[in-house]
Formats: sequence, C-alpha cells, structure tokens
Amino acid sequence: MNSLTHITWALILLFSLTYADQSFQDDLQTLSTSYPSVSLSKNVGSLTPGFRPKPDQPSAIPGFYDVATKKFSVDAMDITNKHITVFYPTNNPSPSKLIAYAHGYGGGGVQTTTVYWEICEKLSSFGYVVTLHHSCDLGCLSDGKIGFDYYYYEQLKAITWVEEMKKDGEEEFVKNLDLDDGVAIAGHSMGGQATLFSSAYNSTSHNIKAAAYHHAWTEDFPTPEIPYISFTSYYDDEAPQDTMGLPIYEIETEGITKAVVSTQNYGHHEADILGINPLLAQFTVAWFKVLFDGVKTENGVDWEEMIFGRGKSNVCWGGFGEVVEGVCEVTDLR
Ligand SMILES: *[C@@H]1O[C@H](CO)[C@@H](O)[C@H](O)[C@H]1NC(C)=O
Repeated sequence: MNSLTHITWALILLFSLTYADQSFQDDLQTLSTSYPSVSLSKNVGSLTPGFRPKPDQPSAIPGFYDVATKKFSVDAMDITNKHITVFYPTNNPSPSKLIAYAHGYGGGGVQTTTVYWEICEKLSSFGYVVTLHHSCDLGCLSDGKIGFDYYYYEQLKAITWVEEMKKDGEEEFVKNLDLDDGVAIAGHSMGGQATLFSSAYNSTSHNIKAAAYHHAWTEDFPTPEIPYISFTSYYDDEAPQDTMGLPIYEIETEGITKAVVSTQNYGHHEADILGINPLLAQFTVAWFKVLFDGVKTENGVDWEEMIFGRGKSNVCWGGFGEVVEGVCEVTDLR
C-alpha cells in the first residue's frame, strides 16, 4: 500500500471508532444490565478509542459564546513542538479571562488540537481565552530536562507568552482579555500533574488564582497554594482515584477551598476525544466562575449552586450524574 492508502485506512478506522455504531452501544447497554456493576461496562466503553459512553446524566448547558481558534508558533516552547493553539470567544460582552490548559501523555504534538478540541472549545465558550500548547507529547527535551519533571514549565511559558501578547495588543484574542486579576490553569493526566505542580510551585510567580486537575497522573503531591478541584473516577485505571485523584484532595493544605469529584460513568479519558464527559467543561467552568472570576450567577446559570449548593444541579448531588459515594466533597474555606 502506498502512504496515501495508509492514511485513508487510518482515517476510516478512526472514523468508525469515533462513531461506533449505535447497535454496538445498545449491546453494551444490554450487557451492562445483565451484570451487577453497570458502571464497569459503561467504563469499558469510555476507555475504548472513540467509543463514547452515554450514561443517564443531565445534559450539559450550551456555551454562551462563539469560539474562534488560532495556532501560533512560540519560540520559548520546548523543541518537541513550538505550537500553541488559542481558543477565544468572539462575542463575549465582558472581558474574558485566561485558562492555560495542559495536554496529557500522547495528547501533544500534531494531534493536540483534535484530542482536546471539545474540552477547550467548551471552556472557551463560557467566556475564557484558553491556551493549549503542543509541546512535550511524550516528554520534553529542552535544556537537558528530558521527560515530564519540568513539563509544567510549558504551562507557565504559555501564560508568560499570553502576557507578552497582551502587552503587544495586536492579536484578536488579547483585545478582550483581562489578565489583571490573574489566570486559571487546568490540565489532563500528565497535564493534570503539570497543573498540580504549577499551582504548588508557581502560583505566585505567575499570578495563578485557581486550578482544575482532570485525572491528574502523579506520584508527587506538592501542596497547592490556590483553590483546586480534582476530577477523578472510580474506573480510572491509569491515574487511579485511590492513589492519585483522592490523595490530591487530601494533601494537607492551609485555608484553601478545594474539591474532589469522582464520576461513576467515565474513565481516564473523561477530558479527551477518547471518552469525553460533556459535563466536565461545565463544572470546571463553575469552579473557575466562583473561585476565580467571582461570578455566582450568570445568564440564568447558577454556578455557585453547582459547586456549593445542595440542590439537584450540584456537582455531588446529581448535577454531574452518578458520583462515587464518599469521593465527592467540597471543602469551603472562602
Ligand atoms: C517557579 O517558581 C520558582 C520559585 O518558587 C522560580 O525559581 C522559578 O523560576 C519559577 N519557574 C518558572 C518557569 O518561572
């Protein structure tokens, strides 16, 4: 086969995996009811490329604004890939704030934008400029710092670059961007660890005000200095709830508002194209709206209730679908 044929086949395979046919999903649903653990078989789906679970959960609220994207080449980034893709709302009447998002292992390089498109686009649609760097797909290479120990520097570099672009004032995405009250950070898997490290080591140097970890993979547990939320799931077999997602929440912190949310319905890939949870962006945004923007309600949406309330739209009380008992908790020290 020539290379074009290879590419065609790869696309066909990807397409058929991405849009796995409904009857297969129905089969799995039937299978799931014949076993005691419904969630396990749902999760098998969430770990299979392109096979998206469809659990019973509230539908996600639509984003508020239209989103545009632009890809930049940024000298400061690691040599593995210099690109940063920026997502930004085009019709937000109020100033947008920044979220620097860090991709996970194997989710960088040329595939970054595809893998994290949905999560970043959705975050942006609620009024945020979102940076998604492409560097360090399988580890970083610059300055003899090989691997992931310094991967969080890429997230910090993205923030610094945005600050420079803001000063420059030329690009469309900075025109309605407000950096005065700091920035927010989020990331998935290895990027979740990067986000944890950034929030522990460099929140002061980079004016970072709030963090969200999506299934952070980590064996180190430095102390975050800003409000944070750890999203995990019972069936995450890559960054397990019991050894990573929950221990991050249990790090001894001082006076910091924090939360852990463990879903029953999704696996490790809750944030990416392999098994995205449509509600993840909404609840990440809820966290940032209340703890970073200081916005409690907006356009008829009660962000405060989603995080701190006791009603059905609260993250632990039904709003996020089924959560793991005992592993959904918010420590409110505001
Ligand atoms: C992160 O903060 C430390 C001090 O805690 C500083 O030495 C370091 O330069 C900062 N890292 C970056 C990439 O700015």
